[in-house]
Amino acid sequence: MSTPIASLRDAFVRPGPDEAVELRAFTHGLMPRRVPTMMQRFAEDWSGRGVDAWNHVPNHWQPAATNGSEENVGWWTLPMFLGDAFIAPLLGAPHGTCIMQPHVHWTMQCLLSAPEVIERGNEVVLVDSAFPSVKHSVHRWQALNGLTPAVVDRPAHGHVDVERVIDRIGADTAMVVLSHVGFTTGQRIPDRELRAVADAAHAQGALFVIDGYHSACTFPIQVDALGVDVYMGGLLKEGCGSSGNSFVYLREGLELTPRLTGWFGNAEPFAFNDTPQPHPDVRRRFLGGTTAVASLYHAVEGVRLLLEAGLDTVHAHTQRLSQIVIDRADEAPFSMRSPRDPDQRSTLLVLEVPEAHKLCEYLKTQHIYTDSRKNRFLRMAPFVWNTKADMHRALDVLTETLETGAHRDFAPETSGPVT
Ligand SMILES: Cc1ncc(COP(=O)(O)O)c(C=O)c1O
Repeated sequence: MSTPIASLRDAFVRPGPDEAVELRAFTHGLMPRRVPTMMQRFAEDWSGRGVDAWNHVPNHWQPAATNGSEENVGWWTLPMFLGDAFIAPLLGAPHGTCIMQPHVHWTMQCLLSAPEVIERGNEVVLVDSAFPSVKHSVHRWQALNGLTPAVVDRPAHGHVDVERVIDRIGADTAMVVLSHVGFTTGQRIPDRELRAVADAAHAQGALFVIDGYHSACTFPIQVDALGVDVYMGGLLKEGCGSSGNSFVYLREGLELTPRLTGWFGNAEPFAFNDTPQPHPDVRRRFLGGTTAVASLYHAVEGVRLLLEAGLDTVHAHTQRLSQIVIDRADEAPFSMRSPRDPDQRSTLLVLEVPEAHKLCEYLKTQHIYTDSRKNRFLRMAPFVWNTKADMHRALDVLTETLETGAHRDFAPETSGPVT
């Protein structure tokens, strides 16, 4: 039986008074109530077992699971264990294909360093709105491996045009990287369009990589159906983990040997051989040096709650709440930058407003928590702890503030984006 969505409101700790409306899931999710318990477990394992915790700790994450029996969980294997037990269900991925990572930046660096990518061509196709951890990595690696960024511009409305991406793919393409949900617009690329990109990339022998930072945890994903080779993302936001909690899926049979390598990616780490020997499990080659285990203790507490509720239910709930914003947008003193079409929208809604930084800070004084970008955009993401009443209160206060201009003379102590 799945958990009712209403019960999730209290499964997370919400800052501020009871009437506060927290709409920042897309920037840093709320803390699941079980996090302090899990951090206590880390302290107990460390103090009680010392170095032996690397080989074995109790399975705090999935005590009842048969495939997660106590024998196979230790700090060495935790990134793979969490990948199998929690990330694979998020992505509809098979056992053995997912692993925890420190951040998307590291995963991207590993991909760009792999000779199996460079052998496929000399260009990386990406859109200009790709996240900096992706975009900047591609730009920097150009000097190291000659892979040229082939950047596809967006039309004036700012949404990605998948046809333009497909047109850019050719015999020179080594890799295509797209965000499943764009962080500047909240635009979700529909599954059929992603599949078309995958087919176009594969027809040219290129890899298809998705940055799913804002999609995993917000709606069900089936990596096989999308035809994607690599799906990376993080749990800091809607996944309600914290920093150090990102992940990657690598399609079964995909051979990659990142040149960025460390002893945790080695087949025989304790042989201390002179030359690197890539681990036979390809995903383990993405481990690099010693895993930072502390943040893995609480990494999946949000994912656990979302999976228990069901990602279909999570998606339906957030779509209902975002529809309230869309329904009121025509009459409101702001315009929508995000797509309105349910097929193309995510939890993230981006509104265009005057003096966005001051507005965001003023709204905080009214206990409406959003964030701002470029002093033009107010971003909000209704999530599992929000209710319809939250959305109406947030929109009432926002509309009144924009109409009276109350924020214009407001002098916040800090102004501008937080993360
Ligand atoms: C689309 C997207 N990718 C990646 C990241 C984070 O990248 P990293 O894990 O390298 O910090 C973010 C963070 O906001 C993001 O929005």
